Amino acid sequence: MGTDRKKVVLAYSGGLDTSVAIKWIQEKYDMDVIALTIDLGTDKPLKPVVEKAIKTGAIKSMVIDAREVFVYYFLFPAIQAGALYERTYPLATALGRPLIAKLLVDTAAAEGACAVAHGCTGKGNDQVRFDVAINTLDPSLQIIAPLREWNMTRDESMVYARDNDIPIDVSTKNPYSIDENIWGRSIECGILEDPWAEPPEDVYKITKNAKDAPDDPTYIEIGFENGLPLALNGQEVDGVSLIDKLNTLAGDNGIGRIDHLENRIVGIKSREIYESPAAIVLYKAHQALEEIVMTKETHRFKEMVSTQYSDMVYNGLWFSTFHQDLAAYILSNQRFVVGTVRLKLFKGNCTVVGRKSPLSLYDHSLATYDAGDTFEHNAATGFIKIFGLATKTQAQIQLKALKKGEVIPSIMPPKVNPTDVMEK
Ligand code: ARG
Repeated sequence: MGTDRKKVVLAYSGGLDTSVAIKWIQEKYDMDVIALTIDLGTDKPLKPVVEKAIKTGAIKSMVIDAREVFVYYFLFPAIQAGALYERTYPLATALGRPLIAKLLVDTAAAEGACAVAHGCTGKGNDQVRFDVAINTLDPSLQIIAPLREWNMTRDESMVYARDNDIPIDVSTKNPYSIDENIWGRSIECGILEDPWAEPPEDVYKITKNAKDAPDDPTYIEIGFENGLPLALNGQEVDGVSLIDKLNTLAGDNGIGRIDHLENRIVGIKSREIYESPAAIVLYKAHQALEEIVMTKETHRFKEMVSTQYSDMVYNGLWFSTFHQDLAAYILSNQRFVVGTVRLKLFKGNCTVVGRKSPLSLYDHSLATYDAGDTFEHNAATGFIKIFGLATKTQAQIQLKALKKGEVIPSIMPPKVNPTDVMEK
């Protein structure tokens, strides 16, 4: 074997596409392929995946267990940020891509490779996320995206695999395209491409159907500091175990199924099913805590930042200075997000049933309608006078100036006459 052959590091999953890619890159680019399998949290055994890469022709094959880095550098900040794309999708796939890109770039440097490769198609978001991240981290690297370059249908890839002795496992017959990590599963293709079709039960793996969930609720308590979930039921827990446990607990209670018709970066609307039990629980809990510790203005502004942050992640701009700006705000914004949230997991619902914080802004003596009320009721009259002053002035000058019929009808309801009138 020639030692001066160029090398490429391929993000390898063990599936049909990236297996075919090993052979295809060797033929098309005349490069040695190093397979890199990145564990972001899967229950799939990875030893057979590593071996399969070698059997398929890779010169070297390795696994990186990146779960901890994924949780602390990507998922925890996303929780602090309240990152739900279009208020719906917890971004499991999108958050994984910049980490995979970074590990590809690091591995290419360590192995003296001049290129990296990934198995993304030419119409999805993931190619954008990978390419933008790789170009940002090391613009000198060549990027090879076999699925974007070759003109093979899935059936043709299977024929190619058969002709090249690449083993096709049963999962290849799965009609869906699936991406999974500790933050959730993303499922698309097949019948799911019909937005009117209810997802068949077989798309789900980590969540029970609510009708099969236990008949008794499960109560849990999550403790936060600086907006980070650090305790479960009063006990400190590391991030990976926390998310694993919540996936099981919430998934068993039928929580975490999401059906999203989303706007892709490349202009396509697409329908995707997600399973993200732990993410749903953690976002709910975190949000409930923010409600009790944040002032109104901070809370309103945070919502805008959350939207920007989710778009930034979804759009693959992780390694941008815009992200740094957002992260700086969020770190500051989360300083007082400390406390405990109690949740009830029951038959597909995750409900917040209690929240408390040493820095709570909720003042019972101000809120109560019972004895012990300290709110100054009399002061309300003066406040209302001044608060309503501008609207009153405007009505006197501008509403009066409008001719009849010029009032936008929807804000001015018509008179409604009484029906039962009684006089003494
Ligand atoms: N729509 C999601 C995203 O853009 C997931 C993409 C990958 N989905 C999949 N089923 N392979 O982040």
